[in-house]
Amino acid sequence: MSASRSVLLIIGGGIAAYKVLELIRRLKDHGIASRCILTKAGEEFVTPLAVSSLAGERCFTDLFSLTDEADIGHIALSRSTDLVVVAPATADLIAKMATGLANDLASTALLATDKRILIAPAMNPRMWEHPATRRNMAQLETDGVLVVGPNSGAMAERGENGPGRMAEPHELLAAIEQALAGETRLSPVGAIGFLGRNPGGPSGAPKLLAGKRVLITSGPTHEPIDPVRYIANRSSGKQGHAIAAAAAAAGASVILVSGPVAIADPEGVTTIHVESARDMLAAVEGALPADIAIFAAAVADWRVAEEAPGKLKKRAGAGAPALALVENPDILATISAREIDRPALVVGFAAETDHVIDHARAKLAKKGCDLIVANDVGGTGVMGGDANTVHLVTSDNVETWPTLPKGEVASRLIAHLAAMPQASETER
Ligand code: CTP
Repeated sequence: MSASRSVLLIIGGGIAAYKVLELIRRLKDHGIASRCILTKAGEEFVTPLAVSSLAGERCFTDLFSLTDEADIGHIALSRSTDLVVVAPATADLIAKMATGLANDLASTALLATDKRILIAPAMNPRMWEHPATRRNMAQLETDGVLVVGPNSGAMAERGENGPGRMAEPHELLAAIEQALAGETRLSPVGAIGFLGRNPGGPSGAPKLLAGKRVLITSGPTHEPIDPVRYIANRSSGKQGHAIAAAAAAAGASVILVSGPVAIADPEGVTTIHVESARDMLAAVEGALPADIAIFAAAVADWRVAEEAPGKLKKRAGAGAPALALVENPDILATISAREIDRPALVVGFAAETDHVIDHARAKLAKKGCDLIVANDVGGTGVMGGDANTVHLVTSDNVETWPTLPKGEVASRLIAHLAAMPQASETER
């Protein structure tokens, strides 16, 4: 391929495959070469000859063709590209990707690639909204797959209308350009986004948490010393607030209990403002029951034993006052241990400066929660910053995500939680 940028285009079996011919032409106009794999089902809609004529090189179809293997091999095929694009991404291809099946050239290349993957779903609205497809899409979101569309509108089948139309070639082109530019936070125009933010295209986000009540804590707490002074920490509330927004976008009814922060309340969320750890605990208990509880707040561990009723004054020769501290209630541990109204899925955060995974495992056990989102706050600017590197720690697994904007962490986390078995339970 002579162009400096290239995509591996996997063409699935759907009526929208004809749009991909137009896409190949547009990509070429933009200096992006297409190497194409056509699935067996795809061959029912477009021919290898049409694809190869437009792409300017042969179209790959068969996993076991000796010529294909001698030419390049499926591993090299999947990696000698800048981006893998699946269009149309049928329900079948999406299911294969979500489960890691590799029984033909397309699915094998998808499993073997080390490049980013962008999919353009296309299917009947009922198939798109089926719980199985919802689960599979949530899994792909967790895996970091980019999604463009689908759009809403009339389907090829007579009388069918709804989300499921593949994105148009110009929308696909815009999405490919963004993905090639390395963007992880893709523009919502043209219905592109990570799942959880804009996967339903113009018809809205997928309702992965529809009917669920989600309770979230966020921000620092302020522990008063006297009427003008307090103990606090550097938490900005950005991560917790982003999670609340992502949960609301996923259709949940969200209650956010926020410590003092300088950022706006997220839209579509009921926000309760509190100051101290004790206020936060009372607000959380008052907000139960909930299906899922996410404790992202950086709660102060200690407060002064006795808040001074008036401002502490400097007195000549008396020296600095000695502040006696007492421990604050642990909100996460208290809620995890509840016999009544314990949310089915309780998630804690762990801010650590060293031995992040070990400390997170210990915290998981000590606090009795179901999952710990651990991050390294040792001099990385996580506290107050816009990006976060997290590890998802459960009793039997650790999953590490790349450094992502906090908004991305939030939408991925919501999709991850929605796919956990506890998310399907109601509160205990
Ligand atoms: N947490 C809480 N109430 C507290 C302290 C912490 O609900 N009084 C929650 C936080 O919201 C977070 C988790 O517990 O979900 C872990 O917080 P972190 O500050 O990392 O842990 P600590 O319990 O304070 O432990 P340590 O200071 O020893 O690391």
